[in-house]
Amino acid sequence: MRLKIQPARTPLSGTYRPPGDKSVSHRAAIFGGLAEGETEIHGFLDSADTRATLEAMRVLGADVSQSGGVILMRGGQLRAPAGDLDLGNSGTGMRLLAGALAGRPDLSGASLRLVGDESLSTRPMGRIIEPLRAMGADIDSVDGHAPLTLRPRALRGIRYEQPMASAQVKSALLLAGLSAEGATEVVEPGISRDHTERMLPAFGAQLLWGDCQCRLDGPQKLQGTVCRVPGDLSSAAFVLAATLLVDGSTVELIEVGLNPTRDGVLRILEAMGASVERTMVSSGEGEPAGHLRVRPGNLRGVDIESEWVPLAIDEFPVLMALAARAAGTTRIRGAEELRVKESDRLAVMCRELSKLGVQVREYPDGADIAGGPVRGGRVDSHGDHRIAMSLAVLGLVAEAPVEIENAQWIRTSYPGFVDDMRALGAEMEWSSG
Ligand code: S3P
Repeated sequence: MRLKIQPARTPLSGTYRPPGDKSVSHRAAIFGGLAEGETEIHGFLDSADTRATLEAMRVLGADVSQSGGVILMRGGQLRAPAGDLDLGNSGTGMRLLAGALAGRPDLSGASLRLVGDESLSTRPMGRIIEPLRAMGADIDSVDGHAPLTLRPRALRGIRYEQPMASAQVKSALLLAGLSAEGATEVVEPGISRDHTERMLPAFGAQLLWGDCQCRLDGPQKLQGTVCRVPGDLSSAAFVLAATLLVDGSTVELIEVGLNPTRDGVLRILEAMGASVERTMVSSGEGEPAGHLRVRPGNLRGVDIESEWVPLAIDEFPVLMALAARAAGTTRIRGAEELRVKESDRLAVMCRELSKLGVQVREYPDGADIAGGPVRGGRVDSHGDHRIAMSLAVLGLVAEAPVEIENAQWIRTSYPGFVDDMRALGAEMEWSSG
């Protein structure tokens, strides 16, 4: 499907509430399936990625139903499915589930196959396979890639020092640690999102965490609970960017998840000269959330330091789109992780931005992007939801319409994106192509 974006003729305005957080929704579905008793999930993100994880838990034996927008799960006793576990496009689904299942005693003797789509089958799985094997897991891959074959068996805890900050790797190990004997400790070289650490105690688990380290003494059982999924800052980032770009826009973003391990995008926007007003509505042990207001204004290019990268890892495509309209040059370094996301986001954004006349230079670990006018034209999502939405936002300030091929991938994380943008006044239209 092709998405056509018209340059904005009027400011964007209105109140905007983002869809449920993708990372938290994946975790809620997995923890709810592992936990004994009932789990209620409020605000679950209804997207291709999160539905795949929920479906995987269902075929693994969790009871899943829906009532008035709330997902109800009854888990605790898993069984081997007849077929594959298909995680679609989702790295989070595959990596967390591999860890969660690797030592499950109720699956011992089974052989599970975790498969994904073409993009997921090229993403590195060695980063979880190596430490899971050190815990005793029996896990095979195709040269470090999916499909993964897992034969659950008894695990023992280890201390693992991650070579890079990755919440997916950390979470896979903590979940494996739930069914391992002894302590599982994970140490990271930088901060990565801490949703797993915040959510596990609500499911009755005991763990210690802080300062790039966490420790869980296994084995431990989870108990069902009530989960409230905050709004996804990574989805809201597209609306924030559009509001900053389109002159005169006044959009109030409400109930956005503002976990400090995820808010790097706001700090980078501030460094680019944006004024970001936050009003917190909840804070503390769970997931902090608040309202956001930004005013359109002149953005300037910045040097994005490598320590900011994990805190804004999913927002780089949209930050690169914003950099294309900022005064001066934005320099991104230390961001080689972007090459192993749903697409090679450094290469793809550089290629697609240059099709719109943006001056870019790609580096192995980053890019330089010079701000200036943006032409209209035809670009491609390369099967990556965040590339499609980033280019759509930039299309609002291009000199002529921008058409995005393969934009249907938006459904991966944010099926309501086009409707939400239209409700704020943007002109976007689907066509088959
Ligand atoms: C995620 C962690 C990040 C992020 C991904 C979701 C998670 O990946 O890019 O979209 O939910 O744990 P890494 O932590 O592996 O960088």
